[in-house]
Amino acid sequence: MLVQIPSVFTPEEVGECRDLLEASRWIDGNATAGHQSRLAKRNRQLAEDDPTAIKIGGRILSALQADPLFVSAALPLKVFPPLFNRYEGGENFGTHVDNAIRRSRVSGGQIRTDLSATLFFSDPDEYEGGELVVEDTYGVQRIKLSAGSLVLYPASSLHHVTPVTSGTRLASFFWIQSMVRDDGCRTLLFDMDRAIQRLATADPLDASVVSLTGIYHNLLRRWAEI
Ligand code: NI
Repeated sequence: MLVQIPSVFTPEEVGECRDLLEASRWIDGNATAGHQSRLAKRNRQLAEDDPTAIKIGGRILSALQADPLFVSAALPLKVFPPLFNRYEGGENFGTHVDNAIRRSRVSGGQIRTDLSATLFFSDPDEYEGGELVVEDTYGVQRIKLSAGSLVLYPASSLHHVTPVTSGTRLASFFWIQSMVRDDGCRTLLFDMDRAIQRLATADPLDASVVSLTGIYHNLLRRWAEI
């Protein structure tokens, strides 16, 4: 399942973050690459312990914790401290799968990467290329969102970023360990939650809302690992 979370940040918040990012020190992106992806990766990043990365990363995590769509789609157990990348001058990231387990140099903790997330800090008209291309069960998805919006996709997917041939693409990327490991089960819960929300909006007193909410939680109780 691939889910877009619009407007995690307002345009003003994006502007504040970009000012900080522009003033930061960008290093070779291979600092965090695994063995295979090192061959494919051509971009720059902030160091994991860069003060700007820690500051904006904290803002991202606070915004997402308060975002019902994110919580419903990801059912997050742990979120990796957000990293930041920058592509320009033809930089790209060839086809790869993200490492299954990641250890944070900042927190010292490790997570299983069930979901990958990209939060865009550049608008699509600011750069050419730079599409995130994800090979989903339903085919190939090409993603280029407005600044402040986020995409969630299964970390098990093959994906790549096409060359940025003009302009600059700034983004944050990170991973989520979900309470529900299996993407298919998580998708069922997300679809069910959305249907319940629609039903509850149409008729808050509908007895089916109570029944379906109970079924949702009983499925979550069956599948969740915490
Ligand atoms: Ni990746």
